[in-house]
Amino acid sequence: VSKILVAGSYNEDMTVVSQVLPRSGETVLGASFFAAPGGKGANQAIGAARLGADTTFLVKLGLDPFGDRAQRLFIDEGLPAHGILRTAAAPTGVALIMVDVDGANQISVAPGANGLLMGTDALDGLLRDVSVLLCQLECPPELFESLAHRLPSATKILNPAPARPLRDECFGAIDFLTPNESELASLTGLAVTSDAEVRAASSVLIGKGVGNVIATLGANGALWTNGSQERHFPAPAVVAVDSTGAGDAFNAGLAAALALKWSVADAIELAVRCGAFCVTRTGALDGLPRLDDLQLPVRAR
Ligand code: RIB
Repeated sequence: VSKILVAGSYNEDMTVVSQVLPRSGETVLGASFFAAPGGKGANQAIGAARLGADTTFLVKLGLDPFGDRAQRLFIDEGLPAHGILRTAAAPTGVALIMVDVDGANQISVAPGANGLLMGTDALDGLLRDVSVLLCQLECPPELFESLAHRLPSATKILNPAPARPLRDECFGAIDFLTPNESELASLTGLAVTSDAEVRAASSVLIGKGVGNVIATLGANGALWTNGSQERHFPAPAVVAVDSTGAGDAFNAGLAAALALKWSVADAIELAVRCGAFCVTRTGALDGLPRLDDLQLPVRAR
């Protein structure tokens, strides 16, 4: 049995769609609003499960209606109940999201219960048969460090979103790091605006002990480097309506394919297709594909 453990966040996503995103201090008139399940951890866990991977999700929710709704969703999506924890100490996480007509977004998260999820919350039974660990940074980085330590033989993926400082010892535990360009810049302190700068920043992280860096580049696909090889994976051209969750769909695809023992190159190709699918749908959850969905509507950009 090969199992994925996704340990991470759930947020209730509150999304306003508007013509343009507001600048600092500005108010713009939005067009529509919707509330939907989200959170990078939840999106990645549901995404991996939808792709057919045996997935367990370790998450902490508040004792509130958002948490109730999330718990029902996880069960409906086939995620096992024993990873779903509830706490009276904090509310369920909330994300305020703004999306413009081109699909670009801005997100601010109040982590709530996500901030209380620790490695010690994972009972030994939850870790049995785990071959792939997938974490993000909406929960404390200690969560990844502790689970990575307890899963020495698992493939460990860290999606460093949102970017936050990592201890030097953390880098050596990461088999696959999946930053976008701004996360790559934050993690290295380097400017990352060109392909050459993506390469340079990725090399710095490899130098710190990361096994593979897969930089996600939006419509430009992804760049994989591991110190000895480098390869660019272009993204299919699609009509983007909302980029929310695209990184999560990518990470879900990567984890699912690695758990299914695909080669790294095939896994990244699937991940890129998952990310491209996601931007063609509104909201994170509807953008998480099943394998059948991946016949993408490809149109010239
Ligand atoms: O990656 C998209 C997610 O980021 C949203 O669902 C939101 O909850 C934020 O966590």
